[in-house]
Amino acid sequence: MLLKHFHLALAAFSYFPTAFGKLQTCKGRDLPAIEVFGLEIVDITAKEHHDYEDWTPFPLFPGPKKAIDFCNFTITYTHPGQNDHINVYIWLPMNDTWDGRFVAQGGGGWAAGFDMALAPSVARGYAVAITDAGHTFYSDPARQPNADWLLASPGNLNWALFQDFAGRALDDLPKIAKQVIKGFYGEPPKYSYWHGCSTGGRQGLMSAQRYPGNYQGIVAAAPAINWAEMAVAGLWPHIVMRRLGYYPPSCELEAIFAADVEACDELDGVKDGIIAAPGLCTFDAKTVVGRPFDCEGDSRKISAEAAEIANEAWKGPFKGDRRLWFGMPHGTPFSVAGPWGPPSGLASTECDENNQNCKSRFFAVSTSWIGNVVRRVKSVDLSGMDEEEFYRTLRLSVNEFASVMSTNDPDLSDFGAAGGKMITWHGLADQLIPVNGTSSYYEKVLALDAEARSYYRYFEAPGVQHCFGGIGAAPTAVLDQIIKWVEQGIAPETLAAATVPAPGPPDAAPVVKHRPLCPYPLVSAYVGGDLSESSSFECAESFDVKKWHTEL
Ligand SMILES: *[C@@H]1O[C@H](CO)[C@@H](O)[C@H](O)[C@H]1NC(C)=O
Ligand SMILES: *[C@@H]1O[C@H](CO)[C@@H](O)[C@H](O)[C@H]1NC(C)=O
Ligand SMILES: *[C@@H]1O[C@H](CO)[C@@H](O)[C@H](O)[C@H]1NC(C)=O
Repeated sequence: MLLKHFHLALAAFSYFPTAFGKLQTCKGRDLPAIEVFGLEIVDITAKEHHDYEDWTPFPLFPGPKKAIDFCNFTITYTHPGQNDHINVYIWLPMNDTWDGRFVAQGGGGWAAGFDMALAPSVARGYAVAITDAGHTFYSDPARQPNADWLLASPGNLNWALFQDFAGRALDDLPKIAKQVIKGFYGEPPKYSYWHGCSTGGRQGLMSAQRYPGNYQGIVAAAPAINWAEMAVAGLWPHIVMRRLGYYPPSCELEAIFAADVEACDELDGVKDGIIAAPGLCTFDAKTVVGRPFDCEGDSRKISAEAAEIANEAWKGPFKGDRRLWFGMPHGTPFSVAGPWGPPSGLASTECDENNQNCKSRFFAVSTSWIGNVVRRVKSVDLSGMDEEEFYRTLRLSVNEFASVMSTNDPDLSDFGAAGGKMITWHGLADQLIPVNGTSSYYEKVLALDAEARSYYRYFEAPGVQHCFGGIGAAPTAVLDQIIKWVEQGIAPETLAAATVPAPGPPDAAPVVKHRPLCPYPLVSAYVGGDLSESSSFECAESFDVKKWHTEL
């Protein structure tokens, strides 16, 4: 008896009370029971880390590189009867370094979350959480193109895991994390945020549309919105390649891209290698057929087939006169060399070492979506897909899965009424998710609620590729700006942006340019001065500076 009391007393003194008035004990058994309707906790592990430095900042998750102290909670749970097994990873800053905020970080591709998002968030002082939604993810995005975990068996989907990934696990994540945070610090987070790009953007929109009370602030960047359409429609350039029996090497498409930029660069009033006004660009690639270009030392000429493929990629899929989906805006690269994995882009090809005998390199998410989900097979070869099969697959994908995956409900009234604020930005040169799916969604939101700008703002980033990369200026402080909007009521009139060197070899690093990004449909127009300074640009209704200056 005595001995027991002695131990308890020792235990109590060995932890320093924090500013939040509670002993921070990094022990699963010290947490109160986690209660969320419909789920059952299977396991809790906790590990204390001090002076943890084993992490690298990443463009999507910037944080000051420094040693961090945190408690690493992992909560494993199931939805009884569903046979799933989901891990939520929660890192909580120790020693009073918590700033009272909770930030949930999103994933990419088929990953519901990236573990590389955790450390940078702790370094910023946030309590941070991610979910794996019940399937393995890899911290290296290049390693996760497959979705065969979605198959219960050949021919049968694992609907429970599918719904976990699509939505359910996204509702569980903040509910669990907030209870762990309260248990650890003795008080709940003062503010809760979602931050994600690509799949992370889709997850942010899903949270706003279906689970509106979970976050006060959401950053949903380059969202993989309209998934059921987008994941199939993105194959269009390859369908055209197959029809023409011609697969252009990337050097040929790069030559067309260069001609496109040359023709339309200045429509936005600035010659900077960026097409910021793709809607005004009427460049026809047929006009450069026969033009010589250099293919890694080999002198070639632009072919009529490659020109048609480029034109079709810009136009997007049509069936007769009916637009089925959007194309890539002018100024979007057809393929981008990957910092880690293979090149990515909607018209990417792979060839032999002489840039001959090329074939389609399909967007991995499209291949796995059509194979593992729409057709429910382990792997699929799409190289034989013709127009008719493409149309049929697109229809099937939408009819069967849009309500599970597509996150394009324009009714955000519950989110707005709950006081939520949301920012979406999207790179105009996004080589994987054409920006127009996002702008058309935003227009539907505004059509339904003319006041939606008071809680949801959308910004386009000229010259920026998927989530990062490209010579255009990408948002540099979007998480800080959503925090300011939520906590101080200061809505973002512009997003601060700068050209961020892409991850990878330093020779890829372009000159740093600063630009304000403007809320859609306003554009960032040049008004004079140094091209690399934000102050040389103003938000305007059009790039025609002379016109709107006289009207003022
Ligand atoms: C955090 O805990 C989980 C589960 O125990 C473990 O897999 C992971 O490696 C831990 N993270 C670190 C940085 O130790
Ligand atoms: C945080 O607290 C732990 C245990 O109380 C201690 O070992 C560690 O040195 C502290 N770290 C900092 C940065 O104060
Ligand atoms: C696609 O979006 C760009 C950028 O907002 C715009 O200029 C263009 O007109 C849009 N195209 C279509 C077909 O809507």
